[in-house]
Amino acid sequence: SADDGTIAEIISAHAHLEGPLLPMLHALQDAFGVIPATAHDPICKALSITAAELKGVVSFYHDFREKPAGKHVLKICRAEACQAMGGVGFAEALLAKLGLDWHGTTPDGKLTVEPVYCLGLCACAPAAMVDDRLIARADEAQVEKALSEVSA
Ligand code: FES
Repeated sequence: SADDGTIAEIISAHAHLEGPLLPMLHALQDAFGVIPATAHDPICKALSITAAELKGVVSFYHDFREKPAGKHVLKICRAEACQAMGGVGFAEALLAKLGLDWHGTTPDGKLTVEPVYCLGLCACAPAAMVDDRLIARADEAQVEKALSEVSA
């Protein structure tokens, strides 16, 4: 398919680099919005790594996705300052309300929830972000308001 051609091109464009894997994964994600499952085998072959090694890298870096994101993305800060300011309970309550786990997407494809590690709003923790809108001193009501505004 056309995708296979693009995948092969991206892999060969990066395979010669020193430390080729991360730039290769970024390029794939830029092209497809995800790391396509069909890219796994060719990447492993090109770089002589195992499927487990590849999987480890993809899941370690939170920027890489294996499934397409929802139309909107809610990011909740899980770094220290936010955790200290009630961020843990805030995140748990939101996830429960949305019926999602971290990285999960609602069945209608509208919303994906991602953890993020500091949004630069530590002084106004806990922090969250809906698409490109930052929410300081975030609470459920503010997040819901932001969600309803972006999807309006
Ligand atoms: Fe959450 Fe910095 S720790 S914004």
